[in-house]
Amino acid sequence: MPHNNEKSGLKVLGVSGSPRKNGNSDILLKQILNGVRESGLETEAIHLPDYQFQACIGCEKCRRDKICTGLNDGMTLLYPSLQQSQGLILVSPTHNYNITAWMKAFIDRLYCFYDFADTRPRSWSSRLAGQGRKALIAAVCEQKDKKDMGFTLDAMRLPLEALGYEITAELAAYSIFDKGLVKKENEIMIYAADLGKKLANDLQS
Ligand SMILES: Cc1cc2nc3c(=O)[nH]c(=O)nc-3n(C[C@H](O)[C@H](O)[C@H](O)COP(=O)(O)O)c2cc1C
Repeated sequence: MPHNNEKSGLKVLGVSGSPRKNGNSDILLKQILNGVRESGLETEAIHLPDYQFQACIGCEKCRRDKICTGLNDGMTLLYPSLQQSQGLILVSPTHNYNITAWMKAFIDRLYCFYDFADTRPRSWSSRLAGQGRKALIAAVCEQKDKKDMGFTLDAMRLPLEALGYEITAELAAYSIFDKGLVKKENEIMIYAADLGKKLANDLQS
């Protein structure tokens, strides 16, 4: 649902990849977006499991059409929001040392923003690059050690950087298992809102 109190015309899209509605990822995303809005930017929050969409099927029709035309599903609704948002926030719980299947499918479907040359190996560029786009990534997991979060942050950072986003900040929340428990972690909640403000300020500077 778009939330609009912006002064700058800049928009930030927040995406949660948790299957648990109102769980820890959704709470963190909400809190980060509160910080973004306090700094005067428009926000939109998306809970990926609310959308029916599948992973990229590798049909390569996007090479010709410059957007995904091989599939017509929930992602078709999300592309305009993504393109119109200068800022992007991805939040995923750790599932088996990695992002969730929903977040992975979402990221794979951003493949349609790449242009490939005909050289071998193919060189590539992103049509989202060079536009000052900035992103923030956050992960939450049950265990307390960095190794138990595994690739969760890497799996969001590397593809977003390849797409041309500058990652302005990362948040890793450990030792959080029960649904909604992150709400009780004052330090994390304050930090999350601060990171939202930082993203908004970075976008406006
Ligand atoms: C299928 C599944 C796999 C998980 N794998 C891990 C894991 O590898 N490491 C870990 O620390 N926590 C793991 N967890 C725990 C979640 O990351 C943790 O409960 C998190 O707080 C859930 O966030 P959410 O409420 O946003 O879904 C897993 C949970 C599920 C359901």
